[in-house]
Amino acid sequence: PSKRVILSGIQPTGIPHLGNYLGALSNWVKLQKSAKPNDVLLFSIVGWHALTLPQDPSTLRSARDDMLAVILSIGIEPTRSILFHQDHNPHHAELCWILNCITPMGKLRRMTTWKSRLAASRNAGSEDEIDESLLNAGLLTYPVLQAADVLVYRATHVPVGEDQRQHIELTRDLADIFNRTFKGDKKSRLFPLPIYVDTPSKRVLSLRDPSSKMSKSSPDTASRILLTDTASQIKAKIRSAVTDSTQGITYDPVSRPGASNLLTILAACTDSDVTAVAKLYETKGHAELKNDVADAVEELLKGPRAEFEKIRHEKAFLDDVARQGASRAMQHSEATMREVRTRLGL
Ligand code: ADP
Ligand code: NA
Repeated sequence: PSKRVILSGIQPTGIPHLGNYLGALSNWVKLQKSAKPNDVLLFSIVGWHALTLPQDPSTLRSARDDMLAVILSIGIEPTRSILFHQDHNPHHAELCWILNCITPMGKLRRMTTWKSRLAASRNAGSEDEIDESLLNAGLLTYPVLQAADVLVYRATHVPVGEDQRQHIELTRDLADIFNRTFKGDKKSRLFPLPIYVDTPSKRVLSLRDPSSKMSKSSPDTASRILLTDTASQIKAKIRSAVTDSTQGITYDPVSRPGASNLLTILAACTDSDVTAVAKLYETKGHAELKNDVADAVEELLKGPRAEFEKIRHEKAFLDDVARQGASRAMQHSEATMREVRTRLGL
C-alpha cells in the first residue's frame, strides 16, 4: 500500500471548546493512533488563515500558544506527528501565490464560504450594495491558501469538517490544472489529487441555545465548555444547559435538541452509540442525565487539562516543539517547491 500523507489544520482560536474537540481535534488523536508507520501526519495551526478576520496581536500571540499546548495535551505526539505553525513554513505562502495565478475567479466566487461572507456584507435592504469594509481579498482567496497547505506536502488525505468539502474539491481542481499545465521534463503529474476524508462528525450544540452549534463566538460563556474548564465549571455549565419539560429522556434532535445534545455529548465522551445511551435514560430525569454528562466530560477532560496546566507556561518548550515541527514540515515541502519552481521556469 502506498504511503499516505495526511494533513489537517485548525485556526489559532485560543482554548478550543468541547465542540472543537469532539468534532475535530479528537479525530487527530484517533488518526495518530490508527496510522501505519509509514503514514506522514501533518497537523497545522493556520495563523495566516486567521488573518482574514481582524485579530488583536497580543490576543493572537497567546491564542497560538494556547492552541499548540492544547493539541499536545490531548495526545498529539510531536515525535510522531508533524505539529507546526503554518506561518513558520513560507512555502505555504509561496505556493499560494502561484496557485492564485492559475485559479479561475469564477471558482472562488462559487465557494459557499465566500457567498456567505458576501451576503453578510450586503447593506441591509439592498441587493447590490456591498459594505467593502467587511470584505478583504484574503476572504476570497482563503481556499487557495488551504489548497497550498495541502498540495505543498503532496498530501493524499485531508480529514476536515463537512463545511470544508468544497475547498478540497477546489484543491483537486487546482492540482489538476497545475498537473496539466506544468508537466515538466518528466512529463509527470506533480500533485496527487487529495481525498476528502469524512470524519465521524459529532455536532455539539450550544448548551444555552440548542438551535445553534456550540461556538466560540457566542457572548454567553455558559453555552460552551472549554477544554480547560475545571470540574466545578463543567458541572455548573451542564446543570444550566437548556433542556425541556417532557418526562423521561429520548434522543430526538428535532423536537428535543437540548436533551439530545446532552446524549450526544455523553455518547461521545464514553465512546458509545447515542441510541444505546439514550435507552439507558428512557425512564430517568434530566437532573440525573446532567449529572452523568458532567462526570463524563470531567473524566474526558481532566487528563488533558492537567497536562495543559503543566506545559502552557513552558514557553521555551512550546517554541521548541513549534520550531522542530516547522523544520520537519519544510523537509517535506522543500522538494515539492523546488520542482514547482522548475516547472514554472522560476
Ligand atoms: P467555532 O464554530 O467555535 O468558531 P471553528 O469554526 O474555529 O469553531 O471550528 C474549528 C473546528 O471545530 C472545525 O473543524 C469545526 O468543524 C469544528 N467545530 C466547531 N464547532 C463545532 C461544534 N459545535 N460541534 C462539532 N464540531 C465543531
Ligand atoms: Na466558526
